[in-house]
Amino acid sequence: MENIIMYPGDTSKEAVDWKAIQGQHLTAVVRNILVLGSGGREHALAWKLAQGEGAHVFIAPGNAGTAEVGTNVNIKVGDFEGIRKFCLDNEIGLVVVGPEQPLVDGIVDYFKGDAQLQKIRIIGPDRQGAQLEGSKAYAKEFMARNGIPTARCLTVNQTNLAQGEAFLRSLKAPYVLKADGLAAGKGVLILDTLEEAVNELGNMLGGKFGEASATVVIEEFLSGIECSVFVLTDGEHYVLLPEAKDYKRIGDGDKGLNTGGMGAVSPVPFCTPEFLQKVEDRIVKPTLKGLQAEGIEYKGFIFLGLMNCGGDPYVIEYNVRMGDPETEAVMTRIEGDFADLLYACADGCLDKVHYAQSPRTALTVMLVSGGYPEAYQKGKVMTGMGLLKDCVAFHAGTAFNAEGQTITAGGRVIAVTALGDSITEARAKAYENVVKIQFEGENHRNDIGLDLLLTSNS
Ligand code: AMP
Ligand code: GLY
Repeated sequence: MENIIMYPGDTSKEAVDWKAIQGQHLTAVVRNILVLGSGGREHALAWKLAQGEGAHVFIAPGNAGTAEVGTNVNIKVGDFEGIRKFCLDNEIGLVVVGPEQPLVDGIVDYFKGDAQLQKIRIIGPDRQGAQLEGSKAYAKEFMARNGIPTARCLTVNQTNLAQGEAFLRSLKAPYVLKADGLAAGKGVLILDTLEEAVNELGNMLGGKFGEASATVVIEEFLSGIECSVFVLTDGEHYVLLPEAKDYKRIGDGDKGLNTGGMGAVSPVPFCTPEFLQKVEDRIVKPTLKGLQAEGIEYKGFIFLGLMNCGGDPYVIEYNVRMGDPETEAVMTRIEGDFADLLYACADGCLDKVHYAQSPRTALTVMLVSGGYPEAYQKGKVMTGMGLLKDCVAFHAGTAFNAEGQTITAGGRVIAVTALGDSITEARAKAYENVVKIQFEGENHRNDIGLDLLLTSNS
């Protein structure tokens, strides 16, 4: 039997019944997909989605790289009215929200509350679900209510400062202080002495990170190795996407300032099947059960920032989006049509789609601007992109100048990802290409994946 499925192409159609079409031959698929965001993560999402059958991907606002896989649209991620008009005028069937801010600001609620937008599928939690990332205090309380392993903590504001200081004194160094709200990835301080911790607690509550640190979570320090595990859920079912390890510090050997992420590797050798089973049993399942019990309808990504402490996973943080640069590694390992997975997610049928991932290793190296993560230079002309071979270069912060040349436009500029049968092979291929890209002030880490290589013989 033949089935002609027109995706939103025609938004007036009913949501697709995945159960009914399971196993049937699809002859025509038209999918207009809008990805919101402008970084390497969004380029990787758009790149993967654009490979799907019948997909036309729009990216708002996008960058010079996303323009190669789809159509850039000059709308900011916070301009909900502009997004609404674009979706309706262009028969968008699926919206994929890249960054957290529009989710925390309620873009999903905006879609659900609008008679015309309701029919459009949107990947991401509503405002309440987004609190898992938007408020560290909320996330910690959620974990406590649902028995999810995480560091011991106390939430402090001006009214219980003395209790906060007493809690700090009960802990051993180092001390972890977290701004409750979103602070552009800068809201976590790790301090070596009690004196510094008490001082910084006062500074944070006094407005060091503005409103975001009017409440602070004090946490016990967990020692172990970090990894990022990505869950795609339709609220009931879930798929574990490839896990990754991120490299946050600017310098080789994890030295220097924290950045948005200087590279990634997927899979992670220490994320063994036994470890991932513990993650599912102790974290993923109780998280979804908790969301359901609390009446939160969650269709989207859950990014678990985990600490592996002697083989046991603890949650360091929840994010309600994919990671960056992890997505630039993870997307290259997902097999099949990623749009199928996201449509099924939005339609509550994730259990009905086949999901597979490549056993190969993806390794991503981020090229950054001179000065990053502090004040950095922009507008530098990039060369060498035409020389790349056997890799994908995702654009993180690029633009075109008046002459149509690609120029740097952000701190993180290009993420080079290569696949190999081992970490060694993926590393060799990635770095062969990294050195071909040139712009004034270019900087990157030379040791992405090296730590894993030393411990895993791969
Ligand atoms: P977050 O913004 O919550 O991801 O925190 C930033 C970084 O601080 C994490 O990636 C960890 O490296 C570190 N971190 C956060 N919480 C803890 C903790 N309880 N113990 C040890 N390290 C932590
Ligand atoms: N790579 C960490 C993040 O996206 O938050």
